[in-house]
Amino acid sequence: MKPVLFVATEAAPFIKTGGMGDVVGSLPKELGRLGMEARVILPKSGDIPSRWCENMVFLGQFDVPVGWRRQYCGLFKLEHQGLTCYFIDNEYYFKRQGLYGFGDDAERFAYYCRAVLEALPRLDFQPQILHCHDWHTAVLPVLLEEHYRRREGYSALRTVLTIHNIEYQGVFERKVLGDLLELDEAKYFTADGLDFFGNVNYLKAGIAFADVITTVSKSYAQEILTPEGGRQLDGLLRRREGDLFGIVNGIDCELYNPGRDDSLAVKYTHRSIGRKQMNKIKLQEQLGLPIKPETPLLAMVSRLVEAKGLDLVAEVLEELMALDLQLVVLGTGEEKYESMLRVASHRFPGKLSANIFFDDTLSRKIYASSDLLLMPSLAEPCGISQLIALRYGSLPVVRETGGLKDTVLPYNEYTGTGNGFSFTHYNPQDMLHTIKRALKFFHDQEVWPELVKAAMSSDFSWHKSALEYAKVYERLQASEGKA
Ligand code: GLC
Repeated sequence: MKPVLFVATEAAPFIKTGGMGDVVGSLPKELGRLGMEARVILPKSGDIPSRWCENMVFLGQFDVPVGWRRQYCGLFKLEHQGLTCYFIDNEYYFKRQGLYGFGDDAERFAYYCRAVLEALPRLDFQPQILHCHDWHTAVLPVLLEEHYRRREGYSALRTVLTIHNIEYQGVFERKVLGDLLELDEAKYFTADGLDFFGNVNYLKAGIAFADVITTVSKSYAQEILTPEGGRQLDGLLRRREGDLFGIVNGIDCELYNPGRDDSLAVKYTHRSIGRKQMNKIKLQEQLGLPIKPETPLLAMVSRLVEAKGLDLVAEVLEELMALDLQLVVLGTGEEKYESMLRVASHRFPGKLSANIFFDDTLSRKIYASSDLLLMPSLAEPCGISQLIALRYGSLPVVRETGGLKDTVLPYNEYTGTGNGFSFTHYNPQDMLHTIKRALKFFHDQEVWPELVKAAMSSDFSWHKSALEYAKVYERLQASEGKA
């Protein structure tokens, strides 16, 4: 099996702003367990806590071409719990607060991709597959093709692009093509290349030039092939359909284990679900909610943005609050949803606890204490909260989209199968109806414990998915001759 280098901008535990960081931090370890060599490379961002930087080893320095200029690059290495990670250092580009959203992002990530390509012969490791993640690293395959392919050591390199969310594409003005990427317009600024309505699109570059494209669930892989879900990249994706694979994300089952989680008041497993309630009592106490273990606790651990279905919640909040339940929300996001929840928590004291911040320990307590997790997303490539909730025996209530559809099987009272509840249409009344249906079963002493056990026994470890990635990598080896 060929060695793989994950080229990304985040990897837990070093630096993480979203689910992509969890994937890049955990999947290489699981590939390692399958006998593969998989390592990671990241920008040395100013947001990486100093405790990590202090332990990095300096491997060397060199220059990187960005258009007509040459920029400094320092190369560092860090090993932690079986994960080997390299870091690209350039303080001008990366020593900032925040990872994305700067006026010079086109340049920062053009630099980063070239720096990774320049770093390859200087690593103490020879990857044969470069696995890129999201738009920040998606121009690497085209830079490889144009500027490196004929150099020694680069000719057999293969590339994989994983799309974690097609909403984010990295669209920049046309002059980026020549000025930063040094690509010829006639050859690359085409409908099947980087031209995106007269602009340059970094994600599109990856879709056009990577050997294989993957995304984070089977349903999402289908959705992005349609005009509704493809964010104007569906045409090109359809042309590459034979090279597109949906592989659902797993979670790190050691990191998220209610039987071992020190954040919890009381640890429990699927054999001792009665103990779960003690966590609820503690959480109600901590959040100033009435201590009523028999009242169903509905949780949302989410970014508070439209795509996560917050407007559905806003529309039926009154009706929701009229039900016999407590609602606990944790997360930050758009100002309008943050203030909607703050105001509502004053209107419905004792029913709604709005925690407008993020805190890992509190999130674990909420997963462990809640009975239901609400995730009515408009779109969800994979989603991680529903997987953690299942592991902690909190039943997900989800809209059937993307990874939510692939991981939550709606409870069927006739066959007894299922590990959650779901609705099809993005509609507040359907969501409310589904919550009510879930509450009905919550009060059924025979059904509910079985459902909690079924949820906790669902397998979302990385093992199966890592095997699928290994197959994708193998396929690249097999196709080598024809390139
Ligand atoms: C993005 C997607 C999310 C997915 C994560 C990891 O954040 O929005 O659904 O779980 O990437 O792939």
